[in-house]
Amino acid sequence: MTHRLAVLGHPVGHSQSPRIHQAFASQVGIDIRYDKIELPLDGFEAGARGFIADGAKGFNITVPFKFDAYQLADSVSDNARLAEAVNTITVLADGELLGDNTDGPGLITDIADNLGWHLRGKRILVLGAGGAVRGVLGSLLAAEPEYVHLWNRTPAKSAALVDQFDGPLGCATSDELESAYDLVINGTSAGLKGRLPAIPARVIGRDSHVYDMVYSQQATDFNQWCQAHGAAMTRDGLGMLVEQAALAFEIWFGLKVKTQPVMAMLRAT
Ligand code: ATR
Repeated sequence: MTHRLAVLGHPVGHSQSPRIHQAFASQVGIDIRYDKIELPLDGFEAGARGFIADGAKGFNITVPFKFDAYQLADSVSDNARLAEAVNTITVLADGELLGDNTDGPGLITDIADNLGWHLRGKRILVLGAGGAVRGVLGSLLAAEPEYVHLWNRTPAKSAALVDQFDGPLGCATSDELESAYDLVINGTSAGLKGRLPAIPARVIGRDSHVYDMVYSQQATDFNQWCQAHGAAMTRDGLGMLVEQAALAFEIWFGLKVKTQPVMAMLRAT
């Protein structure tokens, strides 16, 4: 039996999800077909229902439909509720749609397990206040950092986001930012437009670890900037991409998969 899966988004042309899930399926000997389905901006629900009618076992959801998927799901996990975003839907035998969000846990797995960077008791700076950041804040706070400071180009947006989470989370304007955070996470889309978030260089110290949630074949502009200012280590979002996929695969099939070989495959091509 071939299990039907897909990623629904706009655009999806460059999505690596089919390759990642094919690799997982080969590892555990499951037969899947994983498509990329690009939907019109006002066509998420119709597209999702169409794919379900085609016999979908489940699907991933990417930009800009994670909130639409949250609304479409019949029930959602705590993670998804906190993020108000769903990146993984499972179609149950009776047609019920379960919504989950594996972005936050995927980030934490990459940082804590793959990289071995500690989060508990650490001083963390997160840049950005859009969907990418909203999706991971709950998981970051659950890892018990000393505190998380949120910086955003438009401060009103980070202030609004902070109000929606419990825990040691606060906003910081550029003037208020501290020196040498233990961990700096870039969740802005500035790099996609060839820009850098306009933060002062003092946030990077020689013990700072830096995680850019964007994935790129070369070092991202943000990571290069942090290296130039003396960061101890930098990492891009490839690991998060593969780990969030592994968690989705586990939700669908109840099987854990190895992520290291899949990361190596993506790095090599
Ligand atoms: P995503 O779903 O990827 O998070 P988004 O919701 O559009 O996308 O959010 C994009 C984030 O990147 C926002 O925090 C945005 O800042 P604003 O709220 O001020 O728009 C941030 N961003 C985009 N371009 C940026 C730039 N050149 N410098 C700094 N931040 C930028």
